[in-house]
Amino acid sequence: MPSLNNASVVILGLGLIGGSIARALKAQATNICLVGYDSNQQTLKSAISDKIIDKTGDLQECVMSADVLVLALPPRLIAELIPELPGLVSGHTVITDVASVKYSIKRSLKSTPHDFQTRFVLGHPIAGSEKSGYAAGNKRLFNNRNVILTPDSAVLASSVATVNELWRLTGANVLGLELERHDRILALTSHLPHLLAYAMVDTLAEQSKSDDIFRYAAGGFADFSRLSSSDPEMWSEIFLANASEIEQILNVYIERLELFKEFIKNESRQELAYRFNSAKVARDYFMQNHYTENETVQHPMELINYLIEPGGEIKGAIRVPGDKSISHRAIIFGAIADGVSEVTGFLEGEDTLKTLAAFQEMGVTIIGPHDGRIVIYGVGVDGLKAPRIPLYMGNSGTAIRLLAGVLAGQKFDSQLLGDESLNQRPMKRISEPLSKLGANIKLTSGGNPPINICGNKLTGVRYDMKIASAQIKSCLLLAGIYAEDTTSITEPAPCRDHTERMLNGFGYPVTRDEAKGEITILGGGRLTAANVEIPADISSASSFMVAAAISRIGEIKLNHVGINPTRTGILSLLSLMGANIKIENKREIGGEPVGDITVRSSVLNAINVPAELIAVSIDEFPIFCVAAACAEGTTLLRGAEELRVKESDRIEAMAAGLRKLGIKVQTFADGLQIEGGTLKGGEVDSYSDHRVAMAFVVAALRASEPVLVKNCENVATSFPGFVKVARSAGINVTENIDSTY
Ligand code: S3P
Repeated sequence: MPSLNNASVVILGLGLIGGSIARALKAQATNICLVGYDSNQQTLKSAISDKIIDKTGDLQECVMSADVLVLALPPRLIAELIPELPGLVSGHTVITDVASVKYSIKRSLKSTPHDFQTRFVLGHPIAGSEKSGYAAGNKRLFNNRNVILTPDSAVLASSVATVNELWRLTGANVLGLELERHDRILALTSHLPHLLAYAMVDTLAEQSKSDDIFRYAAGGFADFSRLSSSDPEMWSEIFLANASEIEQILNVYIERLELFKEFIKNESRQELAYRFNSAKVARDYFMQNHYTENETVQHPMELINYLIEPGGEIKGAIRVPGDKSISHRAIIFGAIADGVSEVTGFLEGEDTLKTLAAFQEMGVTIIGPHDGRIVIYGVGVDGLKAPRIPLYMGNSGTAIRLLAGVLAGQKFDSQLLGDESLNQRPMKRISEPLSKLGANIKLTSGGNPPINICGNKLTGVRYDMKIASAQIKSCLLLAGIYAEDTTSITEPAPCRDHTERMLNGFGYPVTRDEAKGEITILGGGRLTAANVEIPADISSASSFMVAAAISRIGEIKLNHVGINPTRTGILSLLSLMGANIKIENKREIGGEPVGDITVRSSVLNAINVPAELIAVSIDEFPIFCVAAACAEGTTLLRGAEELRVKESDRIEAMAAGLRKLGIKVQTFADGLQIEGGTLKGGEVDSYSDHRVAMAFVVAALRASEPVLVKNCENVATSFPGFVKVARSAGINVTENIDSTY
């Protein structure tokens, strides 16, 4: 994989951005040879005497010597220079630019040879300043700032990795975005504010000719007007380059100004306050969530409670969000594969976004997510970079355990940590087997995160899992890729096999000996990029299956649901209880079985949960408990001690909530006994567990009074938009935000 070791990086233009890139790279004391060119001789002289660059030369000489060429020029000059470049650069040079409007650059690239285009990575550091020119350069300008890369799928993953590495060295966070979205989003969030600042100050400047108003201006004026101190020529060009996007948003904005004018004229105090408040909320959210200096630990801003009115008819056809397990794995395998992988149906939930952010931090360029689509520019098994900060995995057990497997065999050290719940979950189950492979891993004295990993050489072993856990199995398979020889794992009961399926899909063989229940992987191979279509998550769908089954009248169709046999335990359990379930249109997509599931309301009967269905229904027990509470007779679940160490202790969480709703429940170390009965209303706690929260929303359908479910903010980890989908399916749920927290 590419590395900037000993590379010649040539920067054309040593103004604010180019000069700052040079300063930041120099500050890293790398062995990069930095070549600079600027048409301003004084700038060049200063850059040499300040030791910002190692050398300079004439334009042609500089360009020819480049391993990496950075076009840090005004957008128009970049667009004019591009057609000349293919004749000047060598066949391996990777080229990037810094223009804040990408469409005009892309247009000029179209006339260049295909091979040149595969090495041109369009980029944009969102780190400008109202200052400009060489003297304003600052080695920390990009520190913790976002740089957006907008390659299309024709660009080589290796070129993208090189440019990513360059920006990482400057301290930036590298994000990916589709080009069209980039220009539209920048028009909204950067170009419009600049235009408004210029327009406002220009208006006041006229006024100040007759009356010295600025003498009395203070902080508010200084804050708002800061952007109008930006380079006028550069910004004139930006507006022309992004003219159509700017025009569209200006029209919307002018309409909004007219509206505000009307509100003021009509003394519409309430409307004004309403609009100002929604602006305040949006800005506060931005500052809290997207403008933090330190992104390692984020706390939820508010507590979310759900209030559900009982009753309602369950109806309709819905497609719930993408499968969480498969989404995590798509990022992991796409990141360490060679080439560009496109993923659709990706779950844009908080858990999977943690995995995505972790790989971005390790130097992987990922475009999106947008409407469930992401594009991953793989860096290869040996291409991950040492994370510069601890990797924060939020609430996600899958993310932390699978990443530990990837990180154990790296050449760098790392730390993984989580939120309050994750930091209490058991990690010895992965650290012990990983140590057998030679991993060097430290946990807290209680065996919990933070997980400190010293990258080490691994050697495959044979390991018999004591717990039927796909997370342990996947962690070891991932470590097995990095280990010498073979790693073989036996599972006490079959548990989800998405890792094995997806590894095969990425061209990495994993074999399974059915008789022994043994899975084997040979280390040292490579993965080839693949496209992944992710089905809807059966775990998310299960809330609606049970909702339909227990509702007085109801029928729901759940489209495109993953029905991998290692996940369909809930269908078997509900069928055993007498639920009316139909699966149609069975097909296989991207190596995973998929179908459309229809569930109708029916009378449910209590069951004893068969042992063989436990591992394959492991995430569905909270919702299953609700089905049991609505069934006739007493349901018994034993052998499910794993439920005690999920996002919450699900045995206690479900027992406590059901009891509050009037259901008789007995708990055991490894399960519960639930007597079906009549549910009343009341207040239940989800203990910040997404699946518990959703289960009680469904339970409320059969309650006699409203149910308030507390602490539901983590529903967004697996099912963003749950309330909207639930309402569309006929559940009368509303979300209340408790911002006093
Ligand atoms: C998962 C495996 C299961 C499951 C979790 C997701 C996975 O955990 O509970 O929600 O994606 O591998 P265990 O493997 O610990 O049972």
